[in-house]
Amino acid sequence: MGFKVDNRIKRAIARDRKFMITTTKEDFPLVVQKAEGDYIYDISSNRFIDFSTFISVYNFGDNSRAEVRKAIKKQMDLLMHSAFTDYYSEGPVNFAENLLKMFPKGFGRVFLSNSGTEANEAALKFARIFTKRPYVLAFYGAFHGRTYGSLSMTASKTVQREGAGPFGPVVHAPYAYCYRCPFKLEYPSCGMACVDYIKKYPLAKEIPPKETAAIFVEPVQGEGGYVVPPKEFIEGLREIADDNGMLLVDDEVQAGYMRTGKFLALDNFGVKADIYTFAKSIGAGLPMGVTVTRSALGDMKQGAHANTFGGNATVAAGADALLGYVRKNMDRIESGIKERSKIVMKRLNDMKDRYEIVGDVRGIGLMIGIEIVKDKKSKTPGIEERNRIIKEAFEGGLVLLPAGECSIRIIPQLEIDKKVLERGLDILEEAIRRVSLNSQ
Ligand SMILES: Cc1ncc(COP(=O)(O)O)c(C=O)c1O
Repeated sequence: MGFKVDNRIKRAIARDRKFMITTTKEDFPLVVQKAEGDYIYDISSNRFIDFSTFISVYNFGDNSRAEVRKAIKKQMDLLMHSAFTDYYSEGPVNFAENLLKMFPKGFGRVFLSNSGTEANEAALKFARIFTKRPYVLAFYGAFHGRTYGSLSMTASKTVQREGAGPFGPVVHAPYAYCYRCPFKLEYPSCGMACVDYIKKYPLAKEIPPKETAAIFVEPVQGEGGYVVPPKEFIEGLREIADDNGMLLVDDEVQAGYMRTGKFLALDNFGVKADIYTFAKSIGAGLPMGVTVTRSALGDMKQGAHANTFGGNATVAAGADALLGYVRKNMDRIESGIKERSKIVMKRLNDMKDRYEIVGDVRGIGLMIGIEIVKDKKSKTPGIEERNRIIKEAFEGGLVLLPAGECSIRIIPQLEIDKKVLERGLDILEEAIRRVSLNSQ
């Protein structure tokens, strides 16, 4: 598409670097101006196919759906904010009641906040209060957020924790990352050594099970590299939690809200958690975090937990409108995801057969990742290659996001036009082809 970094783009990036604290900005020059349908437009009117959904926030389309915008505008004219944790109002409760219809029986309480990290922070605090136990078990590769409780559970990249410790009482165990098994075993002959490890090491030598409040887990690791564990891993965690009176906390922030083809990603494993957390797509493009607890766990004391913006009237109106859309069109959405997932998996697996640098293709629904390696045999992480593929694809008109050490996320909006999806995959393949030629 002949993308060029013009002066306006250069100026915008220079001003960002001058005035803003550095975050994780990608190293390609995307300066976003608007989004429409399956496309992102930059400030110089360059158009890109979006395979990033702005970090899994627009599961149902860039700039969200017309009905969502209408509900948000209507609420803004009435009242933008209502101090929901102090005064009663109907909108956020309508949303909570509708949300609970998506949960298994027995789930009855909702806490609203503003982000994934806050949703996990609340889950951590609730789990400790409910169980009266201090410790938590989480996983290497996990990303649960960047505030202190959540950051204590995050173990995705050291740069996220560097210089910021000490952290809370969290012990980490290896996640079931079968492509790079930390025990150098093969699934299924491994006999789920990673589940055994939890019993034999952290819970036998470090944190007494009866002092451990919860196991926090992502059903598919997102930031950690789009890692899909075997069913037995999640089943094993449920069993450990049950055997020891711990809670299983399921972080659905990235994998949830239909991304894997089911509302709850954990349902793909036939397991139920005790606490679920959401953010990203659930707010329909506005900031929302949600923590949902099993009714039998009880409630908080008045004043124990609250915030200023949780249950914000405008955000809740948008979230409820989007949830209404999802519930009304569930069958079509589910079958659409299956169809699109097949298209993507087939194309990516063909690429894996064709190119030495595509080491692994994995995913559920439209939460799909490809892992880039130097070569299939050594599996040496293809970090530079991965970065070059993302850059080349961007210059070809496709926005992607990295994950883990050397993976790429393929997370288009769930109802992406199939021709646009194919075109995006063409651009990706062309980028892989070029990088793979240069790396020979
Ligand atoms: C699984 C998961 N949990 C929690 C978070 C933190 O969410 P937020 O950035 O909204 O705080 C993220 C963000 O990427 C995530 O992917």
